[in-house]
Amino acid sequence: MLSGKRIVLGVTGGIAAYKAAFLLRAFQKAGAKVRVTMTRGARQFVGGETFSSLSRHAVAVDIFPGNQSEKDQWTRHISWGEWADLFVIAPCTANTMAKIAAGFSDNMLTATVLSARCPLLVCPTMDGEMYRSAAVTRNLKTLREDGIHILEPEAGYLASGLEGRGRLPETETIVEKCLGILAEQQLEGPLSGKKVVVTAGPTREFMDPVRFISNPSSGKMGFAMAEAARNMGGEVTVIHGPVHIPKPGGVDAIEIVSTDDLFSHVKNHADADVIIMAAAVADFTPKSHSEQKIKKDDSTSSLELRRTPDILSWLGNHKKEGQTLIGFAMETENMVEHAQKKRENKKADWIAANSIADHNTGFGTDTNTVTLLGESVQQDFSGTKKEIARQLLDRIFNTG
Ligand code: C5P
Repeated sequence: MLSGKRIVLGVTGGIAAYKAAFLLRAFQKAGAKVRVTMTRGARQFVGGETFSSLSRHAVAVDIFPGNQSEKDQWTRHISWGEWADLFVIAPCTANTMAKIAAGFSDNMLTATVLSARCPLLVCPTMDGEMYRSAAVTRNLKTLREDGIHILEPEAGYLASGLEGRGRLPETETIVEKCLGILAEQQLEGPLSGKKVVVTAGPTREFMDPVRFISNPSSGKMGFAMAEAARNMGGEVTVIHGPVHIPKPGGVDAIEIVSTDDLFSHVKNHADADVIIMAAAVADFTPKSHSEQKIKKDDSTSSLELRRTPDILSWLGNHKKEGQTLIGFAMETENMVEHAQKKRENKKADWIAANSIADHNTGFGTDTNTVTLLGESVQQDFSGTKKEIARQLLDRIFNTG
């Protein structure tokens, strides 16, 4: 999705400026062309050569270049603004945010903001107290009202030695946000106009306020399916259990905890054109739930369980005309045979079966090996979960 995209990366003078070098590399790895504009403040933290070497392009700081060879380039702020498909300012200081809110154009970065014809993403980073200050709050509101995308800073350990909300989010999270912004722009695709629901991650079945039954699902496969559907133009809602990975940008996300929660949200979205059940749903839940923590001495050694509702089966039995229903199956033996039976019993159109046979497949990994089973289809896919997700949807919707 970033392949061939042109990104202007704006870097301002915060300690997180060094992280912008990693962000630049991540953009390039994803196939984007990057140019960097930095403020004089940013140069106090990272040398311009770092960015010019990595981007293989001159870094722009001032509007009026002192350098003779650049003399005729004083209009760069306009040409860069036209060139870019996306402008990302990471990190963005309170100072630069204030300038953008007020419309200043006193350096190449702020002037390019004014001339940009593409979406702008601002990633504010600063001390937690500064972030909460009245002026920063006001400027953030103005930026939002002006249609600028904001990626909120994360809470954690700050350079000041204090804890607070002010850290630049992980590179992966910023890249995801960019993908979401670009996807919003690209409305055309094989799933354009289609509602897509994806379930992802594990469910938790609590027996008391502190203990639950669950599984090691990371949500990676489900989120990859949601991203792939979004990249194909779908209007995606992802309903997911507790996970620790960045949410896909440009999709609606609903967080659930238990299978019963998941079931009620899925029912509310059961009219979708495409439903992808990638969640690792718990099959059993404790029969009773204790309001208080079960005491060691009260407990017996056994726990009574009941079956959870089979959501995919329910969807199969309530299938809307023209709907595509896709399930996942994790098997430890006779994978194809068991998964094909599952497809028939649950009345799903497709089952993507995977095994946990080796350490590159299954729970928590970035890669997977999947066998897609349809009425008269059996096809293997292997690679990263993101690659597989796209290939599965291409095969299912004949767009490959
Ligand atoms: O029967 P099994 O759990 O192996 O089936 C896997 C498929 O069924 C997955 O798509 C999973 O999301 C879905 N499932 C469900 N409700 C359950 C259990 C599994 O929808 N209670």
